[in-house]
Amino acid sequence: MNGNSEIISEIKAYYGEHRHTALVRSFGCQLNVSDGEKIKGLLSEMGFGFTEDENEADLIILNTCAVRESAEDRVFGIVGSMKKLKETKPSLIIGIAGCMTAQSHIAEKIKRSYPQVDIVLGTSAISGLPALLMDRLRGVRYGEDIAEYGDFSAAVPQIRESSFKASVPIMFGCNNFCTYCIVPYVRGRERSRRPEDIIAEVRELAAKGYKEIMLLGQNVNSYGSDLGGEMSFPQLLREINAIDGDFIVRFMSSHPKDASDELIDAIFECDKVAKHLHLPVQSGSSEVLRRMNRRYTAEKYLSIVDRIYERDPDFSLTTDIIVGFPDESDEDFQATIDLIKRVKYDNIYSFIYSKRSGTKAAEMPDGTSEEVKGQRMRELLEVQREISTEHYKRFIGRTMRVLADDVSKKKKGFLTGKSSEFIIVEFEGEPSLIGSFVDVEITGAMNWAVVGRRIES
Ligand code: SAH
Ligand code: SF4
Ligand code: F3S
Repeated sequence: MNGNSEIISEIKAYYGEHRHTALVRSFGCQLNVSDGEKIKGLLSEMGFGFTEDENEADLIILNTCAVRESAEDRVFGIVGSMKKLKETKPSLIIGIAGCMTAQSHIAEKIKRSYPQVDIVLGTSAISGLPALLMDRLRGVRYGEDIAEYGDFSAAVPQIRESSFKASVPIMFGCNNFCTYCIVPYVRGRERSRRPEDIIAEVRELAAKGYKEIMLLGQNVNSYGSDLGGEMSFPQLLREINAIDGDFIVRFMSSHPKDASDELIDAIFECDKVAKHLHLPVQSGSSEVLRRMNRRYTAEKYLSIVDRIYERDPDFSLTTDIIVGFPDESDEDFQATIDLIKRVKYDNIYSFIYSKRSGTKAAEMPDGTSEEVKGQRMRELLEVQREISTEHYKRFIGRTMRVLADDVSKKKKGFLTGKSSEFIIVEFEGEPSLIGSFVDVEITGAMNWAVVGRRIES
């Protein structure tokens, strides 16, 4: 299927009766996790079992993220600590995959300073893993495959982490070049998957009983722009909505510059589509947004929010915010605080700006101290905590349909799940309910979740 069958047989033959195990760790976004599932799928075809214990593994693959320096530092720390492990077990094979490998200075650094690494596998080269591995087993000290094939490894099998939640990449890469962001450099230009492939995959997942389908792309709103007008994202949502089965459809991320009325209509009109929109704003200051190359102003962003709230004043929005973009002034930061108070997000994901070499923002002067940035971050989180606590109260007395996810880590005998609005809901229930939809009447709100009572149907 992926042209690897001969090599896969060779690898199986190499290990023979030895039970060989792999540890695959993903560090990045959901797309990265999805790639990790494909790496596992390929390894499973090669006869690998899986372990979480690095001392047990014959092969360790670190599937990395490059979006912030802290993510890269973590990986370098882990690779560094694996030197000892490798000394005690020389047959151990260590591979680095994911977005870090697409930066040539990082690939060089790995090669130069981390001889314990055997394999470097680029984001477009997942299907090249068997060949690299076989070379290594034959005694080649180091191998890398970081070529940009432009394919999406769609034909690669996948071992999904969950039996009821699945993510489905609908497109790869990004054309937006926000000035702070490394993703377009490490993931290449935007490529949409064929609509019939996506629909077939969702149909198969629905038939298998998956309850949540997460459509993934760096900017799902521009899905299809390379398909000659054949299919837009709102159209794709409607097609997926028409697939038989009891499941909820989520998607990430939506770039505000491309959030159209058609998208909003589709969200409201499609019964399977979650009543929640993750709409990353990044900053409340139009001047900062301009320097970020986001191609919308704060006013334009708020006009989208208003259009949504006109249809449903209680609609659930979440966002991403970068604190401390180069030369962000006190006024700029205050504009962000004003914006989050005005929008009343249910949740925000906030990050202190991290300089990524090769991006435009890395060349911008930055007079703001790390201390001030830290202070701003704390203030932002504090304000959001108050907003969430207050805003979550609107759910009290309502019944929410919740996909039970796991046992609660906070309270014994309780389960945790997510509502259509992407709100965490905690309720009393048996673990056997995990993976199914339950109706929960909401009785209280905290700043991170709501609590309720399960209504037996
Ligand atoms: N394509 C998605 C974002 C993917 S990265 C989108 O445009 O919404 C996820 C988030 O990481 C971004 O929304 C941004 O808030 C944050 N981020 C990206 N680059 C960053 C950097 N250099 N420093 C800090 N945060 C960053
Ligand atoms: Fe990065 Fe901007 Fe593309 Fe998102 S839209 S991946 S933030 S460049
Ligand atoms: Fe995702 Fe990180 Fe790559 S956010 S696309 S894994 S740089």
